[in-house]
Amino acid sequence: MSKLKTSYFCQSCGTQAAKWSGKCNSCGEWNTMVEEVLKKETKNDRLQLFSGNKSDNLRSNQSVKLQEIGVSEYPRIQVPGQELTRVLGGGVVPGSLVLFGGEPGIGKSTLMLQLALRLKNIRVLYVSGEESEQQIKMRAERIGITTENCFILQETNTQNIFVQIEKIEPQLVVIDSIQTIHTAYVESSPGSVSQVRECTAEFLRFANETNVPVFMIGHITKDGNLAGPKVLEHMVDTVLQFEGDRNHIYRLLRVTKNRFGSTNEMGIYEMSGDGLKEVNNPSEILITNRQTPTSGVAIAATLEGNRPLLIETQALVSTAAYGTPQRSSTGFDLRRLSMLLAVLEKRCGFRLGAKDVFINIAGGIKVEDPGIDLALLCAVLSSNEDLAIPQNICFAAEVGLTGEIRPVSRIEQRISEAQKLGFEKIFISSYNLKGLNIQHFKIEIIAVSKMEDVFVKLFG
Ligand code: TYD
Ligand code: MG
Repeated sequence: MSKLKTSYFCQSCGTQAAKWSGKCNSCGEWNTMVEEVLKKETKNDRLQLFSGNKSDNLRSNQSVKLQEIGVSEYPRIQVPGQELTRVLGGGVVPGSLVLFGGEPGIGKSTLMLQLALRLKNIRVLYVSGEESEQQIKMRAERIGITTENCFILQETNTQNIFVQIEKIEPQLVVIDSIQTIHTAYVESSPGSVSQVRECTAEFLRFANETNVPVFMIGHITKDGNLAGPKVLEHMVDTVLQFEGDRNHIYRLLRVTKNRFGSTNEMGIYEMSGDGLKEVNNPSEILITNRQTPTSGVAIAATLEGNRPLLIETQALVSTAAYGTPQRSSTGFDLRRLSMLLAVLEKRCGFRLGAKDVFINIAGGIKVEDPGIDLALLCAVLSSNEDLAIPQNICFAAEVGLTGEIRPVSRIEQRISEAQKLGFEKIFISSYNLKGLNIQHFKIEIIAVSKMEDVFVKLFG
């Protein structure tokens, strides 16, 4: 028997090295080099992957003039539901490889199974390396859609998967998940860098050569990145990410890479007892209609991708019970919160240094849009002074280090959405007034340029 060949792979960037080292020479990460068993495949092995592939190495491509290339011989596959359609840029492109990441239990398998079941006229093969056929059946019953065109395969070996694919000839393949699949040509364990990379490469070739789109579910690491080497994201055409808090019902479907569409799109889903439902009017849901105004609440007109979204921000400011005041935040970057609080302290003279500050964004949604800053600070001020902000007011502006109120992108869209939802006043930055036709809107626009002015205009 020949000696086993091993090599070291960086678990972060996928670099291969002959020797172990404490630090990856390529990406500079520490303690990421892991030994994996290798077996070099022979050329002949690889040709037998699937039959469509056999003559491939003999074909030589000719260069073509750009004008002569026909656009889209194969139209996009229309997927059910406008959220997914929009996120994918108008449907699934034939032959594309889509990576779908998210935390465990967030609903990745549910969304993919729902897609498979709803595509009634398209033969779908759902390959699961994680769940048994019975478990998938139970989930399908829960979702409650029946179709004759969905095939379930419980398998983890790529060669066996390709044999089944040849038999069934699916028009779309779902792999749940890439970390559980392994190929016989690499000997390391499933989920290791070399396995994930090889399996992805095989599905990539399959997708390219047969024009069948492949959706691959991928796990993410505890710091929120897709598990596996970074090259994985380079290899695929589209990277989708499912976000949200498992304890809340709302889920955000974001697209972080898309070769066939914009990455600014976003979809919102709601996890219900019978699967994921689309949310078409998110703003209405994320705002609570209270009988009496409460202190510590402010509404932000934010933008998620291309979509205006009104979100409730909540703050609780109280005297610190222990020596060091706490700052805690759900759905908002904690470092940015500390910075904003420092601005309040230094520029506006509010003494928050000895107070606990807790922040919460409604619905378990994570917001990255800086347009939420002003609403957040107003919620903090409102809680600190115990003065409620009237419910017909919302905010859309960023706050700078000097306490200036900075402009945000697509202000018209935000104002229109606020107006549509019945708000009567919106606070924006005075720098945003340029080119803005105020007469155009019925809602009262209050332009401010400094944090101090906001407090005066809000509470008098
Ligand atoms: P799942 O799709 O298994 O998550 P992932 O594949 O991302 O790990 O979803 C699991 C969670 O979704 C589980 O906690 C139960 C919940 N769920 C519902 O609330 N309703 C449903 O109809 C289904 C199918 C799941
Ligand atoms: Mg799953």
